[in-house]
Amino acid sequence: MNTRLTRLAAVGMAAGLSLATLAGCGGNQATTGSSPGAGSGAKIALLLPETKTTRYETFDKPYFEEALKTECSSCTLIYNNANQDAAKQQQQAESAITQGAKVLVLDAVDGKSAVTIVNQAKAKGVKVIAYDRFVAGSDYYVSFDNVKVGQLQGTTLVDILHQSGKTSGDLVMVNGAPTDANAADFKKGAHSVLDGSGFTIKAEYDTPDWSPDKAQSFMESQLTTVKPNLVGVYAANDGTAGGVITALKAGGVSPIVPVTGQDAELTGIQRIISGDQAMTVYKAIKPQAQDAAKNAALLADGKAPASATTQDGVPATLLTPVAVTKTNIKDTVVQDGFYTIAQICTTQYADACKAAGLQ
Ligand code: BGC
Repeated sequence: MNTRLTRLAAVGMAAGLSLATLAGCGGNQATTGSSPGAGSGAKIALLLPETKTTRYETFDKPYFEEALKTECSSCTLIYNNANQDAAKQQQQAESAITQGAKVLVLDAVDGKSAVTIVNQAKAKGVKVIAYDRFVAGSDYYVSFDNVKVGQLQGTTLVDILHQSGKTSGDLVMVNGAPTDANAADFKKGAHSVLDGSGFTIKAEYDTPDWSPDKAQSFMESQLTTVKPNLVGVYAANDGTAGGVITALKAGGVSPIVPVTGQDAELTGIQRIISGDQAMTVYKAIKPQAQDAAKNAALLADGKAPASATTQDGVPATLLTPVAVTKTNIKDTVVQDGFYTIAQICTTQYADACKAAGLQ
């Protein structure tokens, strides 16, 4: 059902695409009822936050690039990745504005300080799309239901513990970056399930920069205290999950306790296959990038964004996240073409893949 929702969202986006293609490039005045495409030839800047999480360079950037070509073949893409440096992102945004960008598609390193970017853009008549991470005052926001992401992580963790007969014991929470508005939503969603679940949250940490290394160091530092009663770890994404799992293994936690994740990174999916990680959350990045490109073309054209809802007064589209465990890898990431079986089931994972019914 969740997968169906994802596909429906993707279909909806695709349907929206054709309209916007015409609108963004000024080909269909009957549909848009306005003058021919001012968006044509516009410069659009995509500003992504970091490179340690694989999604940005592997999926967000190429999907956005591809979708922008469809939406407005004469538009030019300015691309920058800030490598977790908010000051650098500020400079990249200023430089994009100086280069004449009409729209900034901004995945903010720091949601609060990025309000300055929005204000500077506004002063120059440049529109801002808050991409994945919310920034107050932007013209449009496209993301996933991020509280739901945290709820899926919490619910799946509790379900897996119940399935193994556990109703009490200690948990550790390794959250995302304190500067990322999404991390607060993931945490809120997870707490809404884990608080009062019968399990005890023994330690909790907000991981600076979403750094897998810092997540690992934190887990290592807690192990002596939490190891005796540890039943599971909430990790906010697959990067931090990787760090946590390394620490648990090195610390002799055997068998490994269930660890959550997010992003359906290839290594995360492989850890689920091999039993090292319990779950991840799949967020279909293609429809997200397509939606951002479609609305960038509309905004460059001086038109209103196509939105389904609002968040804090900003027109918004929130897509549906899906929980992934060993049992539905095929029906989610494989079915959606996010990965092929061949990509997941390399020699090292061949036996585990057979056991999981993937090969
Ligand atoms: C994104 C996640 C990502 C994390 C770290 C969040 O804002 O929604 O998909 O794992 O940032 O980059």
